[in-house]
Amino acid sequence: MRLVLLGAPGAGKGTQCKNIVTEHGLLHLSSGDILRQERAAGTELGARAQSYMDSGALVPDEIVIGMMAKAIEEAPASGFVLDGFPRTVNQAIELDKALAATGLKIDAVLNLKIDDRVVAARMTGRRSCPQCGAVYHIENLKPKIKGQCDHDATDLVQRPDDSLEVVAQRLETYHRQTEPLVDYYKQNGTVYEFDAGESVDEVKASILEKLDTLDKTRSADAVSN
Ligand code: AP5
Ligand code: MG
Repeated sequence: MRLVLLGAPGAGKGTQCKNIVTEHGLLHLSSGDILRQERAAGTELGARAQSYMDSGALVPDEIVIGMMAKAIEEAPASGFVLDGFPRTVNQAIELDKALAATGLKIDAVLNLKIDDRVVAARMTGRRSCPQCGAVYHIENLKPKIKGQCDHDATDLVQRPDDSLEVVAQRLETYHRQTEPLVDYYKQNGTVYEFDAGESVDEVKASILEKLDTLDKTRSADAVSN
């Protein structure tokens, strides 16, 4: 299955992708995570992306599209879930073209809907593991030992773009440049919407139920064809 997960900053895209990966064996491809890895590795691409990310703006399409095309090309045949990409209508068009060239397409788009007012509390309380990428929250999703990753005991860090000021800019960027994608995908297929204001487990249950239904439909279609 090839999935796109849409949603504002802090909607829970990264958190829910971890669940989808575990249950459905898909590769999690987060453009934000890949950009942060490039920055940590000190690459030229990472250096070019830095000022955009730190200010809450989008990294230009000519940097992101090539980077994600390469990651998708290397993905296994079992499929992937895209988190944070595409983020502009132009990126979505380029993604569709690249997939169509190899006879593939996006099977489903999942949209996590969240109120802007909920986002600020989520972002300022988020902590993540620089080693394995696990995501926590100081109130909602605490690690077993304060400040330490459950998986590898690495000290948790706060993302530099999670300050209130940058979060406000990221939300503005989201509404202006990314939200129009929901309509783009509605015109080109089905978008499944989820209330991302519910608890992590409730959102997880709704997404997994929908994916199970889609899986069954795909299997039935494959048998009848
Ligand atoms: P990116 O890393 O993609 O950031 P984002 O879209 O702003 O989203 P986040 O990762 O902040 O939020 P999330 O939805 O993953 O939430 P999470 O699960 O962590 O992008 C960063 C930057 O890179 C961009 O600003 C841009 O500059 C650049 N970039 C990336 N992709 C690009 C592209 N395609 N084009 C151009 N530029 C690009 O959850 C957040 C917190 O809430 C956590 O603490 C979590 O524990 C908690 N939480 C999650 N779900 C719940 C819940 N249901 N209830 C309570 N708490 C919850
Ligand atoms: Mg994320």
